Amino acid sequence: MEYARSKPTRHDLTIALDQLLADKQVTTPVTKAVGCLIGRVRQPDPNSRITYSNQIARIMQKRCVECHRAGEIAPFELRNYDEVVGWSEMIAEVVKESRMPPWHADPAHGEFLNDRRLSDEEKEQIFAWVSAGAPEGNPADLPPPRKFIDGSQLPQAADIEFTMREKPFVVKAEGEVAYQNFIVDPGFKEDKWITMAEALPGNRSVVHHIVVYIVPPTSKAKRGFAPGTQFLTTYVPGYQSRPLPEGMAKWMPAGSKLIFQLHYTPIGTEQTDLSKLRLVFTNPSEVNRVVVSSAVQIRHQDFLIPANAQNHRSEASQKIRFKDAKLISLFPHMHLRGRSFRMEVKYPDGQRETLLNVPNYDFNWQTTYRLRAPKSIPEGAELIIVGHHNNSSTNLANPDPSESVRWGDQTWEEMLIGLYEWSIPMPEHLANK
Ligand code: HEC
Repeated sequence: MEYARSKPTRHDLTIALDQLLADKQVTTPVTKAVGCLIGRVRQPDPNSRITYSNQIARIMQKRCVECHRAGEIAPFELRNYDEVVGWSEMIAEVVKESRMPPWHADPAHGEFLNDRRLSDEEKEQIFAWVSAGAPEGNPADLPPPRKFIDGSQLPQAADIEFTMREKPFVVKAEGEVAYQNFIVDPGFKEDKWITMAEALPGNRSVVHHIVVYIVPPTSKAKRGFAPGTQFLTTYVPGYQSRPLPEGMAKWMPAGSKLIFQLHYTPIGTEQTDLSKLRLVFTNPSEVNRVVVSSAVQIRHQDFLIPANAQNHRSEASQKIRFKDAKLISLFPHMHLRGRSFRMEVKYPDGQRETLLNVPNYDFNWQTTYRLRAPKSIPEGAELIIVGHHNNSSTNLANPDPSESVRWGDQTWEEMLIGLYEWSIPMPEHLANK
């Protein structure tokens, strides 16, 4: 994505020509070109066993189309033969290099519901198809098209939808925009049980992220992430909104408000945005576990990444003080200097287990890792996060290696947070309300 330097640090061709003219040996006679592969049109093999219609369309639908469709984050669609064939050689390349589908967890630890990786068989089918010239095959073999709700990642229509306020917010052309907190009173007179929540940016070109919080009537919070607020959902590029596991829901007490925390990044022209939230509810009788969100984060005052540090380690932990807690998802968060992230659990007997390892953290891919099966964490266990930051010039995304960096909201400042969602049994008093 944005891994290019803003200006060149070496002019290879000029240097080579100067050396040649001076009759010296050319020190760098070859450089590697970086860019897109230029595919060639090949004659499709009419006898290929694997065709677009009989195999490849299925793989695209299962693994690629959630992002490669209109209105989602990928820059082109992969929904029909004409679209896919034009990209076929590039597809073989990105699959071979494991750049697509994007997935950053080390397979040695944890199993995740939303693991996007292709199976070896799927990869082999893609390679065989591309080397056979990407034949279409018989359209009668096509699978039924996967259905999506336009502009949404949820599998069903929402029960209710809110905008962050009435009028759009104006994002100025230049400079820095402080985090905006928009408070919405949905006017609910009864408790609500939320099984799906989706934050939708109104204008993706300027919305860097959205975080929506529940503010129960007992809290006076005016901004997100303040004591008493409950994380509800988020939007960051690449985030997937998904239903909570069966029988689980988030609790929104009667009289709660919502805070939309918006981070805008100006793009050189004035823009407007009106972001939205969509919710799906269930009945309390359907709920047997309540989902709560928490975060392990490093103490802000202890957090300092020295200038030029290449692999700066930081660690933070948090004790679990509940009985019968079950982890359901993990969400690592660092900024542009983030290099690697690990989350572990330390059991009361001292044993440690790695829950998630992201060896090459990439700020452009903010992923929620949803555990394949909810994981019991005994009372007294500790969740530990370990992060490494690269504040040197070897990190091409680094805004400034000569600065030491502290905690801060803006992307040129840093963070180290392990957000997690977990559940506890439905308390009696709520079940019978
Ligand atoms: C989670 C979202 C997501 C999924 C799933 C996904 N892509 Fe992408 N894809 C992107 C985005 C965003 C880009 C553009 C930015 C980039 O290259 O990282 C992209 C770019 C590409 C490119 C162009 C790469 C380049 O360097 O120009 C190809 C080819 C591609 N995807 C193929 C696939 C295939 C094939 C699959 C499924 C097997 C897939 N993608 C799954 C989001 C996704």
